[in-house]
Amino acid sequence: MNPVIDTIMNRRSVRFYKDKPIPRDQMEAIIQAGNYAPTGAGTQMWRFVVVEDHEFRKKLAELALPRYKKWMENAPDMLKTLRDKIDSEVEDPVYYSAPAVVFIIGSGITSDFDCPMVCENVMVAAKSLGIGSCWVYFGQLVLDVPEVRESLEMKEGEKVYGPILLGYPQDDLPERAPKKEPLIKWI
Ligand SMILES: Cc1cc2nc3c(=O)[nH]c(=O)nc-3n(C[C@H](O)[C@H](O)[C@H](O)COP(=O)(O)O)c2cc1C
Repeated sequence: MNPVIDTIMNRRSVRFYKDKPIPRDQMEAIIQAGNYAPTGAGTQMWRFVVVEDHEFRKKLAELALPRYKKWMENAPDMLKTLRDKIDSEVEDPVYYSAPAVVFIIGSGITSDFDCPMVCENVMVAAKSLGIGSCWVYFGQLVLDVPEVRESLEMKEGEKVYGPILLGYPQDDLPERAPKKEPLIKWI
């Protein structure tokens, strides 16, 4: 198989990480891959905040947990059932104790289109280096905390995409969910 397609098709969300940091050069290569995403009119209106610091990650996890639990109270049953299983298996159901949390922060009129592509580039590049990833919407639940906003240096008009967790996957990951066949109409 073509190695790019192979990497794309073998990427999966990783929710169990080794407690092993990602070397700086690999992290930089991953961020560069994100930075090469297509962008409306070539504006590249995005920036990256890479959180590796243990204390800060701990703080994020502590802040996120009660917010996550509250959010789940009103979640649809299907999601509750799915999450119950995950929650019973991990200590940190939001950031999964990943060694790096990457906030992709976008602004500008095309950022809703651009930044998810940045995220996908990051995740695929990580996979190509043997590094697991997961887009965690729940990781955004801390964005109401002034201290977090200050640390991320959030400015007017900016929006967070991801955050994307990065880290080396544990060896015995559960089976990945199967993919549906694509719906295609040929004309
Ligand atoms: C917008 C978005 C938000 C997501 N948020 C979460 C999340 O908060 N927690 C989580 O465990 N996975 C999250 N995921 C990962 C999805 O659950 C995952 O991509 C999906 O189940 C397909 O599995 P795969 O990534 O292994 O192909 C998110 C994915 C996307 C694209």
